[in-house]
Amino acid sequence: MNTDFNEDALRELELWPYIALQRQAALVEGTGTVEPEDAVRARPVSPAPSPASPAASHEQASTQQSRPAAPRSFKPAPVAKTIEVVADPARVSRIAQLDWQGLKDESAACQACGLCKQRKQAVLGVGAVDAPWLLVGEGPGAEEDQIGEPFVGQAGKLLDAMLSAAGLQRGREVYIANVVKCRPPGNRTPSAEEALACAPFLDRQIDLIKPKLIVALGKTAATRLTGSEASMASLRGKTYEYRGIPVVVTYHPSYMLRTPTEKLKSWEDLMFAKRAFVAAAR
Ligand code: URA
Repeated sequence: MNTDFNEDALRELELWPYIALQRQAALVEGTGTVEPEDAVRARPVSPAPSPASPAASHEQASTQQSRPAAPRSFKPAPVAKTIEVVADPARVSRIAQLDWQGLKDESAACQACGLCKQRKQAVLGVGAVDAPWLLVGEGPGAEEDQIGEPFVGQAGKLLDAMLSAAGLQRGREVYIANVVKCRPPGNRTPSAEEALACAPFLDRQIDLIKPKLIVALGKTAATRLTGSEASMASLRGKTYEYRGIPVVVTYHPSYMLRTPTEKLKSWEDLMFAKRAFVAAAR
């Protein structure tokens, strides 16, 4: 029986009744766990993500099933690679050599895209620099821009609560970063060009941290890290690979704030991520 979560935190999130029901059902079926890891691994490899669907900020609801397209395999799904035009190869290779202080300085002075114009500060990331988990969001909001740390607003509080329910904590085993380091005005979705201009920073963070698993939070991070513009509903429940690191995808916490009923799906994604993490750490 999986006891790898914090029941009190799940009650706070109002998720406990659902989890309790699932666990009861699993017991009645005699499986003992909601998603036995061996069964998950034994399932056939999931198909490649479907081709492009319209992008949306943070996430769009899947109206069908309440479970993810059930987790099927930890084998990375084939990725439809985006073609990237590197505007300034010298800048890319310079950033690829930086240490943490260099990354901080370079991002603070960065003018590679228009987002620098209205930022108060670049928000690089937070957490242990050797964290085994890396969570990647979209970009700083107003509070993050003010304070200089990712996910400190409402969405961050929900993220921390979900992490705590799963026995994880930012600053301990989790590093949190964003696709773009500067706040998009009015919290709009960063453009593909802005995400690409900022990619050398995220890539260098990944290379320095060398996490065991990356969790993409929402559509912008999922597109960046899987190379697919498929819907979140079709990307969930599978593993991908970015710079040699397994990647899983879940909804952005802001989407869960707007659609609290989707919290259960995020919880299921987090449980899938934990199993993918164990598989990756073997
Ligand atoms: N949303 C994000 O994607 N990142 C943050 O840091 C805050 C809100």
